[in-house]
Amino acid sequence: AAAEKGGFSSFMDKEIHDQPAAVRDTLLGRLDERGRLSLDELHIDEAVLRSVDKIVVIACGTAAYAGQVARYAIEHWCRIPTEVELAHEFRYRDPIVNEKTLVVALSQSGETMDTLMAIRHAREQGAKVVAICNTNGSSIPRESDASLYTHAGPEIAVASTKAFLAQITAAYLLGLYLAQLRGNMYADEIVDVVDELQKMPEKIQEVIDAEEQVKKLGTDMVDSSSVLFLGRHVGFPVALEGALKLKEIAYIHAEGFAAGELKHGPIALIEEGQPVFVVVPSPRGRDSLHSKVVSNIQEIRARGAITIVIAEEGDESVSDYANHVITVPQAPTLLQPLLATVPLQVFACALAGAKGYDVDQPRNLAKSVTVE
Ligand code: G6P
Repeated sequence: AAAEKGGFSSFMDKEIHDQPAAVRDTLLGRLDERGRLSLDELHIDEAVLRSVDKIVVIACGTAAYAGQVARYAIEHWCRIPTEVELAHEFRYRDPIVNEKTLVVALSQSGETMDTLMAIRHAREQGAKVVAICNTNGSSIPRESDASLYTHAGPEIAVASTKAFLAQITAAYLLGLYLAQLRGNMYADEIVDVVDELQKMPEKIQEVIDAEEQVKKLGTDMVDSSSVLFLGRHVGFPVALEGALKLKEIAYIHAEGFAAGELKHGPIALIEEGQPVFVVVPSPRGRDSLHSKVVSNIQEIRARGAITIVIAEEGDESVSDYANHVITVPQAPTLLQPLLATVPLQVFACALAGAKGYDVDQPRNLAKSVTVE
């Protein structure tokens, strides 16, 4: 087993380090030299894809947060109304799906029973289903109309890491492909995004190369009893995923919030010494998201929070209000989750390790839940 871990102390640690390759391999062979998307494996009639009037992303756990990230990109690029729903909720609310609905099922294992039942139901209503999956020939791809595999390689640790980044990447490829097919984006706009996507493996590597600071934070914070995570726009699902990692492997109470929701409730939780991670959007983004999140940091800091801020390199605006700044390379807003998630994984892994827990086999959890 030690050899399989490639010299890392756990599979989770190794899989965090596999992420540049997971994203690179998921992009591989799906882009031509001109930056156009070619998804040969998407065996669904182009006329059907052009007629899609709603996308429903279904998944559980970490995959559902990948779906939440993807929704921002797909709606922005394709202008198709997109919903994301937990598979077990979707199935039991009599959802409105028909021949014009495209269901995207995200699953690392391809064996999650809740997700499988949801796609069966969707297909019975006439919807087309695309599976985004990491496991060749597993049940969910077999029961879907088409599959887009993530090429993250086998994921062993129960807490998902590299599959998450690969799912976001594959879902983005699907979104860009639909935008290309339906003429929602100019060819050069697509090329621009593709170029940026191709730079991501290198940038993820930079985040990993700087992991010592985050690991130290994790071990220093070993006695935390509660950690909060804030994010906005695509940073919101990143915050949710950061909280989930900590719950799953460190058994610490952790919650993710939309930063804008703070004043509507969660700010009441802030007291002296409360650690809060904040995912800060790019200051180069088009709207005022960045300054709004910076104000949130000021508000919680003024109430005694210990702020751990994930911000873009060169963003000086946060330093006055942050107890700790973790920088990530510059990237377009929609691609930032591929970077900002990584320190949160490293943090959870280090903290759980410092507690002496088996990070690969957390209590009460299974890698793949094959019962409803
Ligand atoms: C389980 C695992 C999670 C995973 C979820 C969905 O709950 O513990 O880590 O995110 O299932 O799994 P899937 O294989 O469908 O992505």
